[in-house]
Amino acid sequence: MGDPVVYQPGSPRFVTDPYPAFDTLRAGPPALYDDATRQWVVSRYALVDRLLRDRRLGRTYLHVADHAEFGRPPEPAYLAPFWATIRNGMLDREPPDHTRLRRLVSAAFTARRVEQLVPRIATLAGELVDELLDAGSDGSPVDLVAVLAEPLPVTVIAELLGVPESDRSLLRPWSAAICRMFELDADRADGMAAAAACAEFGDYLRRLAATRRATPADDLLTALTQVADADGGRLSEDELVGTCVLLLNAGHEATVNATGNGVWALLRHPEQHAQLRADPAALLAPAVEEMLRYDCATPMFERWVLNDVTIGDGTGGTEAVEVARGAELALLLGSANRDPAVFADPDRFDVSRSPNPHLTFGAGIHFCLGAPLARRELAASVGALVRRVPKLAAAAEPAYKPGFVVRGLRSLPVTVR
Ligand code: HEM
Repeated sequence: MGDPVVYQPGSPRFVTDPYPAFDTLRAGPPALYDDATRQWVVSRYALVDRLLRDRRLGRTYLHVADHAEFGRPPEPAYLAPFWATIRNGMLDREPPDHTRLRRLVSAAFTARRVEQLVPRIATLAGELVDELLDAGSDGSPVDLVAVLAEPLPVTVIAELLGVPESDRSLLRPWSAAICRMFELDADRADGMAAAAACAEFGDYLRRLAATRRATPADDLLTALTQVADADGGRLSEDELVGTCVLLLNAGHEATVNATGNGVWALLRHPEQHAQLRADPAALLAPAVEEMLRYDCATPMFERWVLNDVTIGDGTGGTEAVEVARGAELALLLGSANRDPAVFADPDRFDVSRSPNPHLTFGAGIHFCLGAPLARRELAASVGALVRRVPKLAAAAEPAYKPGFVVRGLRSLPVTVR
């Protein structure tokens, strides 16, 4: 018998396959205190869904309290550029500020803008699949993450915002350094690197925004410089930068990982892969949702308890748990997605699963603003693969990167013929 499977977000073994530990957690109390992370871990679907929408919780507490009141140390000065950037994006704001920011950004990042991009996304996916076919034409393994999963969302978000092609290689190292800070084991060196990345990224975006103000273009950055609400309120310069960093990070990290994890799930289930190939017109949309559910790229998001909450209702043989103001919750979206109370046979990968109310994009006021774009990108990549690479197969068991919060494959070696 192996060791018992426990919640251990810092362990590579756990990150590779967190699902047995999620099963154990869901069978336990509604919230379990984890000493290592100092977080209350919530694993059942109904609770994660409810708490994501609960206004007694927040992504930040700084609008209602200071660090001392929440028992947290003061912020080191070297992190100032990092926090200034992050707190100027909507994801780390709470109402009424969040409401204002989200409304302004949504006025520029519209459904219409995403729909207009669909042909371009299809063309890009087609070109990248050509490259995949070329690189693997001699039967040798090709890394699907490097050739398709990574370049597609990175190019799409950069083109959407209007970042010139010559500058794009700058973006990914900045995003990677910033996203590293969302992991539970980020240290001082990570903090210094993230702060430096924020300072450089911010300077770059300020210069680019200035050129768009002088010479408007048909891109999202120009639209963000122009949006105004009914009272004439606009995004401040810092909010504009915080928003662009958030959009670029999401485009760089979440979609890349969701594509890699999703395609690996498909390749691990050849009978499901065959079903999808046989009828992509009917099955592509549910298959994308199942890829998002089955091996979640965003398995955990955090919330601060702003006012005392009771988690659970004492049913199911487990007692409700009182959690006081000042505590932090780890909401396990990845575990919610495998909860048998909501998903029949949850460990089965089923490209025709319907309904599929997974929580991979969150819920409530912070529900992912980029979900329509991410879905379009996944459908384009997976659609091109199933239509044009019928012999696609995994060439080796892929390895996951060490991160749990931003969870994805290092590489996905495949053969194409
Ligand atoms: C498959 C890919 C993606 C996944 C799995 C994902 C997941 C998520 C999740 C779970 C949240 C909510 C976090 C929370 O409640 O604490 C979120 C928020 C957000 N996402 Fe995504 N995301 C993806 C792609 C994108 C893309 C492509 C964009 C934009 C280009 C984007 C932009 C955002 C923004 C702006 C927010 C903050 C919304 C708010 O605070 O109101 N995401 N995302």
